[in-house]
Amino acid sequence: MSDEMTAADKAKFVTAHRAADFVHSGMRVGLGTGSTAAFLVRRLGQMVRDDNLQIRCVPTSTRTAELARAEGMDVVTLEQVGWLDLTIDGADEFDDDLNLIKGGGGALLQEKIVAMASDRMVVIADAAKHVETLGAFPLPVEVIPFGWQTTQKLIEDLLVSMDVDGRSTALRMAGGVPFVTDEGNHILDLDLGRIGDARQLALALNRIPGLVENGLFIDICDQVVVGHSDGRLELRDIAKGTIIQERLDLPGADNLFTDVAD
Ligand code: 5RP
Repeated sequence: MSDEMTAADKAKFVTAHRAADFVHSGMRVGLGTGSTAAFLVRRLGQMVRDDNLQIRCVPTSTRTAELARAEGMDVVTLEQVGWLDLTIDGADEFDDDLNLIKGGGGALLQEKIVAMASDRMVVIADAAKHVETLGAFPLPVEVIPFGWQTTQKLIEDLLVSMDVDGRSTALRMAGGVPFVTDEGNHILDLDLGRIGDARQLALALNRIPGLVENGLFIDICDQVVVGHSDGRLELRDIAKGTIIQERLDLPGADNLFTDVAD
């Protein structure tokens, strides 16, 4: 398998495998959505099967739920467990304060609910996701289908008074039709270039009727595990203010990490 992995996949593998170490038997765990989160789900599935890891998992999308079930994991609903010990998820961007843009995979609503219902949120990301200022990645916002064009206009009007570089917005499409989220909503992607005040923008967006949630995760993430394609890791902890450098210690990893670069 390792021969076919791209450098980006190796970085995702590294961060997902390191973050899986945070998971212990008895925990209620939120499972994120996306390609990096899929590496985590597969790793946790392996630990369930091989190491008798006993956890209950709340997925953040139907596709993560399907993968988790296929991996033999105990999938439950947030209603069943009420609260979570830990959520591990990917991100589209993170800054030095561990604020995030999420929603590239269209699952931001469940992802935010699950993350906020957790004692701790850990983000797994490759180094390319680290930015000085959020906003190069178009900000996803989830809107209900009813009157979505009006919601879009209200967002565009709001952006005029916000400290951002770009102001174009687009309805996300999939296969020639509007993308539909697990909640039956649409996604608008806001191409902002640079978000000067992410906290202010997040609060202002959520005051618009028809806008269900935005992809800015402010003060939600506790730790980011940054993976590099050569096996290097960086553990950023916002409460401790630390950045710890590590290397993935995995039997056979030398083979995995030959001939790679970020
Ligand atoms: C899905 C998300 C994902 O976490 C984000 O898009 C990162 O995905 P990937 O790991 O595939 O780069 O927010 O809604």
